[in-house]
Amino acid sequence: MKGLRIISTGSARPAKAVTNDDLAKIVDTSDDWIYPRTGIHSRYLCGEGETTSTLAIQAAKEAMERSGLGPDDISALICATTSPDHVAPNVACQIQRALDMPETIPVLDVNAACTGFIYALETARGFLAMQSEEEAADRPRYALVVGAEHLSKMLDFTDRTTCVLFGDGAGAAVVELAEDVPYASMLGARGGDEISCEGPGPVPAKIQMDGKAVFRFATGALTKCVDILLTKSGRTMDDIDQVICHQANERIVDFCIRKLKAPETKFFKNMDHYGNTGAASVALALDEAMCGNAVKPGDSLLLVGFGAGLTWAGVLITVK
Ligand code: UT7
Repeated sequence: MKGLRIISTGSARPAKAVTNDDLAKIVDTSDDWIYPRTGIHSRYLCGEGETTSTLAIQAAKEAMERSGLGPDDISALICATTSPDHVAPNVACQIQRALDMPETIPVLDVNAACTGFIYALETARGFLAMQSEEEAADRPRYALVVGAEHLSKMLDFTDRTTCVLFGDGAGAAVVELAEDVPYASMLGARGGDEISCEGPGPVPAKIQMDGKAVFRFATGALTKCVDILLTKSGRTMDDIDQVICHQANERIVDFCIRKLKAPETKFFKNMDHYGNTGAASVALALDEAMCGNAVKPGDSLLLVGFGAGLTWAGVLITVK
């Protein structure tokens, strides 16, 4: 099977970090409630002039610069988001224009909520793999995949059960289609409205969530997805260098670590300073892991997402 390899990553965040103590000034909450239940201390929230597309463009530029590739080397551009600036043009086309990407490539947004970046990777793989041998000879097999969110515009800052959980940001990766890489994937969804957001329409969009139901789903989905990816690829946890999963809640990740009897150090976490950034979450964590010591060239990673829909998905992927 032809799989993806990560060439480079990038990320972007709004200028303003908002702590739990800051939120406690506007809604009836506290760091003592938020941190033990979620692992979140602060999150970045968009201010004047910051939107999904501005963050997405910044992250995409950084990933492209680090890849050493030019715009003409990209054969597919996919952006995962639940919070585009507007219905049309999509965020991917805004990135295309800003980065001067070619006109003859697929450019589209994917909405699979917090699982979006994984769905976007698989969408990109599909487009790259679809090229005929003749097309592939003329065309590079690289894709730019972005996850970007401005979730704070869809939050009700009088609802303490949701507004403390989410944040804004963007992550991006340049990936390559290759035959000689270990790769496995699974994509799923359950058809549920336990997390929802009205719109687009005249009523302002507001994220609503049945937290307990989503928690139950998320713990099961994360554990099952890791199991499926290991089984499909014929690998064990010993072969995996890092699991980078959706950063919704530290307790969800810790549940999975206990259930799989996996070493805690193999599960990357950065929700303490980002909160839940939806489709950007896995991409942001991936970039932070790549920029720090957590991930090095040649590492095997499991990227796993879960979220509204209820969607869940994962890939086993290698870093170049
Ligand atoms: O990307 C999508 C994935 N989403 C998730 O993974 C979210 C999964 N769910 C969760 O992480 C947890 O369910 C939450 C962190 C959202 C909530 O934790 P919980 O332990 O399920 O709390 P709860 O909703 O049962 O609320 C317990 C109490 C309630 O008060 P009463 O009714 O017992 O008096 C809430 O009103 O805590 C209250 N509460 C708060 N208090 C202070 C809820 N939110 C807050 C808050 N600050 N922010």
